[in-house]
Amino acid sequence: MTIKIAPSILSADFARLGQQVALVEKGGAEYLHIDVMDGHFVPNITIGPLVVSALRPHSKMIFDVHLMIESPDQYIPEFINAGADLVTVHQEATKHLHRTISLIKEKGVKAGVSINPATPWQTLEYVLPMVDLVLIMSVNPGFGGQKFIPSALKKISALAHYKKEHELNFEIQVDGGINRSNIAQVVQAGADVLVAGSAIFNTEDIEQEVIALRKQGEL
Ligand code: DX5
Ligand code: ZN
Repeated sequence: MTIKIAPSILSADFARLGQQVALVEKGGAEYLHIDVMDGHFVPNITIGPLVVSALRPHSKMIFDVHLMIESPDQYIPEFINAGADLVTVHQEATKHLHRTISLIKEKGVKAGVSINPATPWQTLEYVLPMVDLVLIMSVNPGFGGQKFIPSALKKISALAHYKKEHELNFEIQVDGGINRSNIAQVVQAGADVLVAGSAIFNTEDIEQEVIALRKQGEL
């Protein structure tokens, strides 16, 4: 099984952000996962388009912007102008999900939709044919370094089954609490893109950790 690794910069050393992003790219990461939090949708505040545009000239990775913000429509164009290749919004954070996804696609980038641990995947049924990626949260969004919530596995496999049955093309991304010891199980359940923050950046050798995670996940 071929998988994609998406290091989350939330756990990076922001004083050395450029160097650490270069290390995950050297380790072969396909996506760079950028967590945007507004202090309203989630109880934490992180970064905005400024950091995306600062990193853009230094990396060829797919910039995967995970918006954990309310009323995302207002900010989507700015993140796309800053260099996002994929913009993911939360089903729970937007009143008109179809409109928000259409807005992302009209701007010519990939659109993702995310659901929290308590949200059933079936709420996405009518937008699945139009999205490029579904992000299943395996922790409650807001912080890095939390423990993987096991019920996510059932959700991943149910969604993967539905996708196959209906011949749909979106990628299944999983985010939260992924590390060397559970990545194989998550891939087994049907994940294509694996986000990892603390498991990659809280280590001595960031580049090697990307390689090691992939090795465990592709077993
Ligand atoms: C959580 C974020 C995650 C986070 C994952 O709200 O969406 O992307 O950085 O961090 P780990 O891998 O440490 O759980
Ligand atoms: Zn994330």
